[in-house]
Amino acid sequence: TRPGRDELLEIAVEVARQAADTARRMRADGVSGISTKSTATDVVTAADRAVEREAVATLRAARPGDAVLGEEYGGADGTGPGGDAGVRWILDPIDGTVNYLYGLPHYAVSLAAEVDGEVVAGVVRNAVTGDEWTAIRGGGAYRAGERLRSSTETDLGKALVATGFGYDPARRAHQAGVLAELIPHVRDIRRFGVASIDLCLAAEGSVDVYYEKGLNLWDHAAGGLIATESGLRVDGLAGAGPGPDLVIAAPPALFGPLHDHLARLDAAGGP
Ligand code: IPD
Repeated sequence: TRPGRDELLEIAVEVARQAADTARRMRADGVSGISTKSTATDVVTAADRAVEREAVATLRAARPGDAVLGEEYGGADGTGPGGDAGVRWILDPIDGTVNYLYGLPHYAVSLAAEVDGEVVAGVVRNAVTGDEWTAIRGGGAYRAGERLRSSTETDLGKALVATGFGYDPARRAHQAGVLAELIPHVRDIRRFGVASIDLCLAAEGSVDVYYEKGLNLWDHAAGGLIATESGLRVDGLAGAGPGPDLVIAAPPALFGPLHDHLARLDAAGGP
């Protein structure tokens, strides 16, 4: 039998809070075990690994048969469609690792629950401030008990746009080129360094739209659901769905104009 969405969100929130506490506590003692992953700027720390290990252990204790996809270890069964109950957990133990490294109070735990391949519940928790965004598919998105309403802006020229950059130098150059062409058409740009929180800021209307190329599923699974449930349209180019090529989250009236700029600028292309 399939578990209820409320039950999955409850577990997700409990695990995210524990993970956030561990990340914050470890940061108070300084940063240790720093190494690089895909490129010299793609950093991982002992905390990323420790938080993921702890969170996976808690998930396994709560729901032993489920699959887990985590940023740092992948998880032996993380690529499958889900365990016995069709459930797969998608975890970024520390999203915003560079902020973490520098002690900027802006990094998050992102955890989503997928059932039969569809994300049905998700939580993003800022590990320092405790800000916590949640959503259940079909049940709305919330922060501190308040239902989230995304921006109602209709003029792209007045839209505040959040985005981010990958770690590969050639990709970053392409992304910067796209941004240089986009800036004249929008109000301004923000780069906070945490894709999951970017999506939540769009969900609560603190920015109008968000887009990024090159995200991994753990960066956008939970935040994407929260953005969708706040009223945003979350998709890729030409209806391809949000994915590694591009994630766009925008109010319905801004989605088309932003999408068309990004398509014209080949935002999903390049390395
Ligand atoms: C990164 C952050 C960043 C985004 C990158 C992500 P990480 O995740 O979310 O904001 O621009 O694309 O890879 O490496 O800090 O977990």
